Amino acid sequence: MKNTFTVAGVMGWPVAHSRSPIIHNHWIHQHHLKGAYALFPVNPLRLEAAIRGLQALGLAGCNITIPHKVEAMQHVDWIDPLAKRMGAINTIVVQADGALHGYNHDGFGYIASLREAQPSWQPNAGAIVVLGAGGAARAIVVSLMDQGAQDIRVLNRTFGKAQDLAYEFGSVVTAYDWDERHEAISDCVLLINTTSLGMHGQAALEIELSQLPRAALVSDAIYVPLETPLLAQARARGHTTVNGLGMLLHQARPAFHAWFDVMPDVTAELRQAVIATL
Ligand code: ATR
Repeated sequence: MKNTFTVAGVMGWPVAHSRSPIIHNHWIHQHHLKGAYALFPVNPLRLEAAIRGLQALGLAGCNITIPHKVEAMQHVDWIDPLAKRMGAINTIVVQADGALHGYNHDGFGYIASLREAQPSWQPNAGAIVVLGAGGAARAIVVSLMDQGAQDIRVLNRTFGKAQDLAYEFGSVVTAYDWDERHEAISDCVLLINTTSLGMHGQAALEIELSQLPRAALVSDAIYVPLETPLLAQARARGHTTVNGLGMLLHQARPAFHAWFDVMPDVTAELRQAVIATL
């Protein structure tokens, strides 16, 4: 455990809504560490200067959030191969020699949240349907593949982006047309929404679940609201549902470990502290 005052934070634009300070400061307090986690609103025009400033300011590193996750890759010295495949970074760790290393823990967070909801979850138990083909989808698809998933169907409003994923990630990933979503789930074991549909202030995701096998797990990367219309619809049919809060909480753990030398846990108390702000 370090005996210095360790500072980390999150760069985004805007970033005021981020729950990451609650999570990391909770762990700093829980583990009696000396340090702080702050919000850094960084204009996209000054992203490079802000990232290069991490070392000069003596920060341990930072999280990177919307809209900087892709662009930030240009401004670090080394990128973890997993993050390269995902095409984005969400964490920077300043090394002892000052070098900036980029990582992406979103997929780790997603898989951990699934296992938390269903400890018996098996990645290759059947077809997995991913709605959306943006940054969150890429991180989730790569992690599912690394876990051993054999059949991942990506459906996106803009079909070309789903095709890009299928082309890039190989035969395990198949692109389907957005209009096929009601039928593409007919034999799936896991349905994941990574689109912004269902988010607070956005239209609901419209999908007919009648063909979805009863044992299928239904998950959403969204955590505001905690229960999206999709999850409410799935719960009403008796499905086990997984909201996006677990992904948010678990992705924070490896970053905290890298900065503070302690691997923290996601406790009920932490979960409640974040839920209280939603
Ligand atoms: P994130 O990093 O959260 O994944 P993103 O990269 O902007 O954010 O991706 C947003 C996803 O939501 C995309 O898959 C987007 O579909 P397009 O690629 O067609 O833009 C999807 N999305 C957003 N609004 C949508 C809508 N009204 N209907 C269907 N999909 C939508």
